[in-house]
Amino acid sequence: MQRTLSIVKPDGTAKNVIGDVIKRFESAGLKIIALKRIKLSKEEAKGFYIVHKARPFYDSLTDFMSEGPVVVMAIEGDDAIAKVRDLMGATNPKDAKPGTIRADLATDLERNTVHGSDSPESAAFEIPYFFSALEII
Ligand code: CDP
Ligand code: MG
Repeated sequence: MQRTLSIVKPDGTAKNVIGDVIKRFESAGLKIIALKRIKLSKEEAKGFYIVHKARPFYDSLTDFMSEGPVVVMAIEGDDAIAKVRDLMGATNPKDAKPGTIRADLATDLERNTVHGSDSPESAAFEIPYFFSALEII
């Protein structure tokens, strides 16, 4: 069993695709073990994406991630990190395989609808960034 953190990003909540994203995770046999809708401040978005602080897109990305509501969820299952990444598709929707979330629901490299942890180390930082132990059931 493995855990990962996923986010329906502000473009996704604006497009009303929260259920579509969750449906894909559940249909793949993954369990949503924590879930909430929140609005990140700029500082909270910067803290979440601290790994990208030196990248040219950091300021724009954290503006985007704090522009509207997001839905954050902790997900559990066999090989959950890779499964969620496969369901998401490539970072740039133009490179994402048909049938993936980003290919089907997103059009823009930055506004790409969904986040998923990229490693066990990332998941171990990202899940407690949003959820206390008592909120993960
Ligand atoms: O989200 P993912 O792990 O696929 O990509 P990343 O390389 O960790 O980048 C994090 C997020 O930054 C992406 O999902 C995009 O929203 C954004 N990004 C961007 O705006 N411009 C880039 N050249 C690369 C990423
Ligand atoms: Mg990433």
